[in-house]
Amino acid sequence: MATPHQDDRTRLLVLGANGPTGRQTVHQALTRGHQVSALTRHPETFPLHHDRLQVIAGDATDEGVIDAAVAATDAVICTIGAAFTRRPVVVYSTSARLLVEAMDQHHRRRLIVVTSGGVDADHRPAGFAARLSRSVVRDHVGKTVYDDMAKMERVVSASDLDWTVVRPPGLTDEPGTGYAVAEDSIDGPVMSREDLAGMLLDQLEDDRFLRKVAAVTTPGLTVSAWRMLRREVLKR
Ligand SMILES: NC(=O)c1ccc[n+]([C@@H]2O[C@H](COP(=O)([O-])OP(=O)(O)OC[C@H]3O[C@@H](n4cnc5c(N)ncnc54)[C@H](OP(=O)(O)O)[C@@H]3O)[C@@H](O)[C@H]2O)c1
Repeated sequence: MATPHQDDRTRLLVLGANGPTGRQTVHQALTRGHQVSALTRHPETFPLHHDRLQVIAGDATDEGVIDAAVAATDAVICTIGAAFTRRPVVVYSTSARLLVEAMDQHHRRRLIVVTSGGVDADHRPAGFAARLSRSVVRDHVGKTVYDDMAKMERVVSASDLDWTVVRPPGLTDEPGTGYAVAEDSIDGPVMSREDLAGMLLDQLEDDRFLRKVAAVTTPGLTVSAWRMLRREVLKR
């Protein structure tokens, strides 16, 4: 049974809340006046505190955790991420399946999930170097991650929910300067996480991308390929 809604603030559940995009999303959601539940497996390292913030300890692949968290929310933003590995990855598709089931069960509608521009197999970025590095990352280094993101997209888009899939390019912690968005694919190699968080929250009040894939970027932002590889792919 859902918790009765006390006022007209949106109760927002953020998955992957302790990652860099998740923290930005929680921070900006609180600034916008939302009531936020932040799910993380490591609540002891979660840096934010607020009287409208509840930190939930748990794994997003745990059915009981997702069911209870969804029951007490109005909308869900999923920023869960997995590191590149040769082993199979299931966290994106498993959490998506559990979210869809729980949201159906509790009659919740709005689901926004982050995957990646790399999921779009048909998109050919401008420039030979960009196409080469994309192919190396998409088809080799990150294959199991992208395969599971694609599965997440299929799970979410097959649901009856008010879903939006958001595909960013490589992410950085540079300050946001405003984002660009287009259906399915967009050129632009890098996005500020600050901009991505703002875009995710804007979807709570914007129905242009309901039941659609939104490709996003921060126009004009560039980071050297080597720096991106070291910081975001090798996590060093
Ligand atoms: N990094 C990039 O360049 C890039 C590019 C395109 C798309 N993306 C996507 O954009 C999103 C945000 O990326 P990011 O780099 O800001 O964050 P991230 O480093 O991928 O971190 C996301 C968070 O997901 C949480 N998580 C992972 N498995 C979980 C599980 N089983 N249960 C609960 N939480 C789990 C982790 O938090 P805890 O350990 O605290 O639970 C982690 O901090 C992700 O979906 C990512 O795949 C990233």
